Amino acid sequence: MKLSFNSACVHGAYRAESGQPQELPIAQSTTYRYYSTDDVAALFDLKSADHMYTRISNPTVAALENKMALLEGGVAAVAASSGQSATLMTLLNICEAGDHILASTNIYGGSHNLITVSFAKLGIAHTLVDPDAPLEEIVAAATPRTKALFAETLGNPALSVLDFEKWSAAAKQLGVPLIVDNTLATPYCCRPLEHGANIVLHSTTKYSDGHATSVGGMVIDGGTFDWTAGGKYPGLTTPDESYHGLVYTEAFGPSAFAVKLRGQLLRDFGAVMAPQNAWLTHLGLETLHVRMQRHCENALALAEHLEASPYVEWVNYPGLKSNKYHDLAKKYLANGAGGVLTFGVKGGLAAGKKFIENLDMTSLVVHVGDLRTSVLHPSSTTHRQLSEADQIAAGIRPELIRVSVGIEDIGDILADFDQALAAACR
Ligand SMILES: Cc1ncc(COP(=O)(O)O)c(C=O)c1O
Repeated sequence: MKLSFNSACVHGAYRAESGQPQELPIAQSTTYRYYSTDDVAALFDLKSADHMYTRISNPTVAALENKMALLEGGVAAVAASSGQSATLMTLLNICEAGDHILASTNIYGGSHNLITVSFAKLGIAHTLVDPDAPLEEIVAAATPRTKALFAETLGNPALSVLDFEKWSAAAKQLGVPLIVDNTLATPYCCRPLEHGANIVLHSTTKYSDGHATSVGGMVIDGGTFDWTAGGKYPGLTTPDESYHGLVYTEAFGPSAFAVKLRGQLLRDFGAVMAPQNAWLTHLGLETLHVRMQRHCENALALAEHLEASPYVEWVNYPGLKSNKYHDLAKKYLANGAGGVLTFGVKGGLAAGKKFIENLDMTSLVVHVGDLRTSVLHPSSTTHRQLSEADQIAAGIRPELIRVSVGIEDIGDILADFDQALAAACR
């Protein structure tokens, strides 16, 4: 039976057989036993979908992968040790030295650093483009070696909402996949594959886990991109000698990208998710729909409250009617504009620091997307490696405070912010 989104969060794809544990078992094993050498040989030729070794796949991790593929509407998913390694492997699955990535300016600081600094050292070039630039400008920023368009549904922390229609049109014109980091929106708020994205990725460390227990990442293959058109992706369309000449697109059709990522990049780089972390993340996803509903409601209520506060200079939340992304949010984030907002305290950076230090229930953490309300000053932390100009381009003013609005009672959240604002601005 085809489950609704909410039921898919609860049940996923794991179904206990009669007499088996109702809760997903943790396969805390590196290894799987076989009785035939031919069976093992088939594993090494990618002819068998059985588990071989936990660096490549594991039953508990597979249950999480299947659940994420289900929630995002993809054909396959591959888990990774972190959001960073999910981004790394996604891009390296189709880019090599000499290639070029066209990315939005409004991406997470770690992704920005990966693309602009670490990939540059590997000979992979990039151009950053304002996500709100006209279609022609985005297309013009590409080169003949552009292999991917990369953007976030909800930019962290600029909270820009991606214009999927425009970005997917650009990707189609260029004949490259649109890769979207959907970490802040989650599939509860937006399913990028339904709006023209080809590959979706997540830091599952955030809302998927939801309880700040496990670092992890996920790559979901939409199965919609034709890797054979245009001859741009020989890694997928020509023989892989490390698998005796196997051609991924011929052998695996729509899930070629995911199979290559697992068979080559997880095998060679080893950035694998641990079964225990997969189990905790799978458990977290069981309540994703309930948590996200509350995160969105609380974030909108706090944004409206801060907008009316005499101590607040500005508030940025796409769910606010006054927000420049409100129309895009209505179009692409129909279930709510997420749990993150940013704002500036009157009195700038100094008052902002005082505000953070006067919070009581709300914690100062280098994190976003768990069930507790928390704050962060991105300019001096997550984005400190960017120049001031790059910070401004990424939508980060020096005084910006990022709030990850939790699922506590909204009255308590508002009271904590009010007292800390009053203390900071007195
Ligand atoms: C949007 C986004 N993508 C990717 C990452 C990287 O994820 P991780 O910290 O799990 O490596 C983060 C981390 O904050 C993020 O916010």
